[in-house]
This record gives sequence, C-alpha cells and structure tokens, in this order.
Amino acid sequence: MANTIAIGIQWGDEGKGKIVDLLAPGADVVARFQGGPNAGHTLIIGETKTVLNHIPSGILHENTLCLIGNGTVVDAHRLVEEMATLESAGIPVKERLQISDRCQLILPYHRALDAAREAAKGEAKIGTTGRGIGPTYEDKAARRGIRLIDVDKAGLDKKIDENLHYYNFLLTQYYHAAPVEKSTVMAALELARTHLLSMTADVTGILSEQCQAGKTILFEGAQGAMLDVDHGTYPYVTSSNTVAGAALCGLGVGPGQVDEVLGIAKAYTTRVGSGPFPTELYNGKELMDAAGKYMAEKGHEFGSTTGRPRRTGWYDAVVVRHAVRISGVTGLAITKLDVLDGLKEVKLCVAYERNGARLETIPSCEDEFAECVPIYETMAGWSESTYGLTDVNALPAAAKAFLDRLEAISNCPVVMLSTGPDRAHICHI
Ligand code: IMP
Repeated sequence: MANTIAIGIQWGDEGKGKIVDLLAPGADVVARFQGGPNAGHTLIIGETKTVLNHIPSGILHENTLCLIGNGTVVDAHRLVEEMATLESAGIPVKERLQISDRCQLILPYHRALDAAREAAKGEAKIGTTGRGIGPTYEDKAARRGIRLIDVDKAGLDKKIDENLHYYNFLLTQYYHAAPVEKSTVMAALELARTHLLSMTADVTGILSEQCQAGKTILFEGAQGAMLDVDHGTYPYVTSSNTVAGAALCGLGVGPGQVDEVLGIAKAYTTRVGSGPFPTELYNGKELMDAAGKYMAEKGHEFGSTTGRPRRTGWYDAVVVRHAVRISGVTGLAITKLDVLDGLKEVKLCVAYERNGARLETIPSCEDEFAECVPIYETMAGWSESTYGLTDVNALPAAAKAFLDRLEAISNCPVVMLSTGPDRAHICHI
C-alpha cells in the first residue's frame, strides 16, 4: 500500500472507520490528524461493534502503530474511557497507541461554552456535537489553549485561573449560564496527567523515522470535506480543517510523504446538524420523499456519537467534485450501496439550479447554497440484494450502471465499494 490519506468527502459519517480498519493491515502506522470526540468511527467485525472517538481505526490490528497527532483535540475523560473499553475487550491499547504532546485538551469550560452558545442561538444553532470542539480550537488559535505537554508544568494553575476568569465571565455575564468550577477543570487535567502523559511522544519525529525506514502510513481524517472550516458550508461546519491538506499540519509531515488520497463517500448523502443540504429528502422527522426515509431506516442513519437522526438524501456529485478538487482525491471508496437495494428508481444530483442558472460547483455563501435546487439524473433501481458482495462483477446490471454513472459525474475513479457494515463486505476495484 502507498502512503494514503483517507478522508470523508461529504458531511461526515461516510464509513471512514470501516475503510481505515480494512486498509490498516497494509499500513505500518495509522495516524489521526484533526477533530476529536465529535467523531464516531464504527468498526464491525463479526458480532462485535466498536465505536472510536479519538483512537485511530487501526487499533484492532496487532502490528499497527496508532498515532494521535497535534491537530486533534483530546477530551481526557472520553479518551481514558475509550481506552478502558478497548482494553477490557483484550486490545492492548497502551502498546499500540502514542499521542502527540502538542494535542490541545478539551476542558469542562469548552463544553460549557459550546452548550451555552448553542442554547443562545436557538433555531439558528449549528447543531454541534456538544463536545466542546469549537471553543477548544478557538483557544488554540487564541494561544491560550492547554496542551497535553502543559499538564505537569509550572504555571498551569495560573493559566487555568486566567482561562476560567475569561470563560466564567462569558458564561455568566454574556450567556447567563452557570460558571465552571475550578475543581472540575483540575480533575480533567489530573486525569490527563496520570493516564495520558506517559503515552505522549514526539509524533512528528516518529513519523519522520517511519517514512525514512520506508514504512507505510495511513492518515485517518475525521468528519468530512463539507464540514471543513474553510471549504465547507460555513458557518455550519466543524472548527478544524478536514481536507487532505490538514493531514500534513495535523501531524507535521511534508507533502512528499503522501502518495494517494482516498475520498470516502456514501452512495447517497447524510448530514447531522444544521446547514444547507440540497439533495435532502428526510430531515429525521419530516418526509420530503419516501426514498429518504427508506435510506435513513435501512442505513441506520443515527449519529454514532450523539444518536441524533441523520438528515438523508440522494448522492450529490457537486459536493463530491468539490471535495475531490480541494483534497486532490485520487480514488473514491463508495460505501453503503446495499442500502439502495429495493428502490424502484435511484437518483444522482449532477448540478444545481439557482435563479434560473445551472451551477456545476457549490456557492461559497450559505444563503445561496440554501437556494440551490438539485438537477437529478434518474436511473432504474434494482430489486436484487447487493449486501455483502465482494466482486463488483456480481452486481446487478442496474447497480453497476448506477456506480458507473456515479463515477463519471464525480470526476474520480471508484477504487473500493462497500456493500455492508462488516470488514468482509467489500469489493476492491
Ligand atoms: P462540532 O464539530 O461538534 O463543533 O459540530 C459542528 C458540525 O459538525 C455539526 O453540524 C455536527 O453535527 C458536525 N459534525 C461534527 N463531527 C461530526 C462527525 O464526526 N460526523 C458528522 N457530523 C459531524
């Protein structure tokens, strides 16, 4: 396997966990580079389901070194819990995982501000995961963040006092919310000090050595291209860069170390949280079209992190072309094709119409994006099951035609096709 960045190219939840787990045996290292516990990467092996928030999806493999890079944000409570769950299932996490000492810590005041802001926005809320992601990345940019390396350093207490002064002023005076107690912050820091500090490493140095030794790296993204803070549906985005380029600064490697970019997309589209979604058919409560509910129910479209119902609609090639362009995607992994089995007809959005004009690319402005009406190509569906197929030649003719057309309008070759949740349900193309 070549050094590969694997990223989501829709609005997250594309099935990255499964694809990364599948590719991991071909890699020496799997490294996460952005996001934090807003992610929920699901691995299903036989009867066992594992949901990972921080830990790279290569963790189940004996010979794979897993790294959490400086570009990620870490919630000590959740990471310690995640490690304990894996360890109780017999996975020796501590032997396989190292964490950058430069990771920013998510602290109780970040979660409190995330919640207070969302509550204050009411209808206009972003629909965040509530995990404190935005405020933590803000602190990093504002240069008041607390990194893992800081937790046993002199001066920590003073920094926390300053941060609490600022946060509690905002929480109580601006948002009329409850202040955060210093003891809860110190408890989180103590947990990081006692459980995580010994697992920290110079991740950039490790990667440099691994690359020099000719080892193979798999870079694992979180969320999806449309949630990228620069290139997504701003302001309805997460607070990190989710594009392939983020792998470089989120781990400290150079562009020469990357050979391929694998873009992971569902055969339809989902989104959690607010913001424009032109091909939406079902918003989790109200039906715009029965096919949307069919896909949501059959695809079990509920957030793996928050349990929220996911908004569901047809495959949007405008979105995917945008993602292919901004990340230099070299191949597509299409997931959940089997969810479309049994539909009489299936649709692909090839372009948008707005104010009588045809658009081939997404607008930068959220209001204009919200006005985009999808232009669909409608194709015959298939009644046969594609569930668990491992040979693309065994696909029903209509499913093959759908996949061929999807590839053509996405400007990128399909190199993998996932036909079910299990590691074994895959066609390599
Ligand atoms: P945040 O990352 O919690 O700040 O949430 C910002 C937006 O990104 C919200 O619309 C979330 O629903 C969405 N989001 C964040 N992480 C994920 C993810 O892993 N999958 C899907 N959506 C996500």
